[in-house]
Amino acid sequence: MGQEIKIGLLGAGTVGSGVIKVLGMNAHEIEQRTGVPLVLKKVLVRDTSKKRPDFPASVELTDNAEDILNDPEIEIVVELMGGLHPSREYMLRALEAGKHVVTANKDVVAQFGKDMFEAAEKHKVNFLFEASVGGGIPIIAAMKQSLTANHITEVMGIVNGTTNYMLTKMSEDGCDYDSVLKEAQEKGYAEANPSADVDGLDAARKAAILASLAFNTRVQLDNVSVEGITKITAEDISYAKGLGYVIKLLAVGKDSEEDGVDVRVHPVFLPKSHPLASVNGVFNAIFVRGNAIGEAMFYGQGAGSLPTASAVTADIIEAARSIKSDDSSRNLCTCYSQKKFCPLEKTVSSYYVRLLVDDKPGVLGSIATAFGNAKVSLKSVIQTPLNVKDHAEIVAVTHPVEHACVQEALRVFEGLPVVDEIRNVIRVENDRG
Ligand code: NAP
Ligand code: HSE
Repeated sequence: MGQEIKIGLLGAGTVGSGVIKVLGMNAHEIEQRTGVPLVLKKVLVRDTSKKRPDFPASVELTDNAEDILNDPEIEIVVELMGGLHPSREYMLRALEAGKHVVTANKDVVAQFGKDMFEAAEKHKVNFLFEASVGGGIPIIAAMKQSLTANHITEVMGIVNGTTNYMLTKMSEDGCDYDSVLKEAQEKGYAEANPSADVDGLDAARKAAILASLAFNTRVQLDNVSVEGITKITAEDISYAKGLGYVIKLLAVGKDSEEDGVDVRVHPVFLPKSHPLASVNGVFNAIFVRGNAIGEAMFYGQGAGSLPTASAVTADIIEAARSIKSDDSSRNLCTCYSQKKFCPLEKTVSSYYVRLLVDDKPGVLGSIATAFGNAKVSLKSVIQTPLNVKDHAEIVAVTHPVEHACVQEALRVFEGLPVVDEIRNVIRVENDRG
């Protein structure tokens, strides 16, 4: 180690430029906390001719990753380009060259985390990814350090800022889907391809990372059942309000000895009284249930330049401390178990089911019978007359039931002449009523 620790940044967009800002504005505190100055030596971008007025003049821009990966003075490489490739390859090369790696890239962590950890362990360096889940919220450090005394049985959270921002705006201001997505993109929350946000894939990657840490078993993206928010309509939001719920896109991870690990991402009806129901806008929150701590909730900004840079820079400081103390053993992989997974059909929830039906005698009865035959018990049913002649909407909320039973009832509805359309089916989470 020299008199200072040199850093190379791969990518300087929304998050990367935030990291440059944080390293500059908090340089004094960071040096005191690390015990050594951190110097940003080189920054990789695609377009070196683009004007970047906020970057300090000392920063050397390059469009060639080799300038960073082959620079022996650079001890910490921070990957903030996004996407799987070439981010994965650059990070592996950095680890293999004995450089510590910090990333916010959940795509790579969720898909290639195992390879990254193996390379980090082999070359005795850190692989740190705090910003990959929950933006600025220190949830990874909590899972890896502060909660390690617990057996964790449940982790549940709002982990995508874009969709939470969209659902909040649609619910509070009645905004339409397209305009609110555009706003989230302009604010720098959305992924380069926002379908990763609205289709639930971004949240699924975060769910896989969180569940792997919480349950100490490797959860891959394929193990996560995923559904996004694209089918949520103003009508669903209005029914939710009327019934005392809000709609949120939740990542849910549960670990039961009997059923196995269950990890899913989908929209849910959440009772307004639930703490996660009041997490609005770009804020994220993660709920953890442990056998010693009970329930704990971590809350903060889940996306955006400076909040995310806060988490990335904390990892840079952790890596610098590790370089200073010559100890990278604190941040090893924690997936030491191989647990079984719970099949989706066996997962249990309450459900909201909205049907367009013929408005004539006996319809409600045949629907109730179909639910009953499929062993689905109903908590409430409302029928709303529509402007469409001879048609009505039926909204049923079930008691907790296996997914397979609801699917069976839906199959029957598809064949019932009085049911014109299954308009939506959404899980109801934590319904204690
Ligand atoms: P971004 O704004 O699109 O920035 C990407 C940066 O990487 C740009 O500077 C771009 O160069 C550079 N880049 C991309 N591909 C490159 C390549 N092949 N070669 C050289 N440079 C390349 O992305 P971002 O929003 O900062 O996100 C970065 C990472 O953080 C992603 O993994 C994302 O999922 C994660 N993350 C983002 C947020 C958020 O709020 N945005 C929050 C948490 C985590 P140019 O500047 O020349 O275009
Ligand atoms: N697109 C992501 C979100 C960025 O909206 O939460 C943070 O990972």
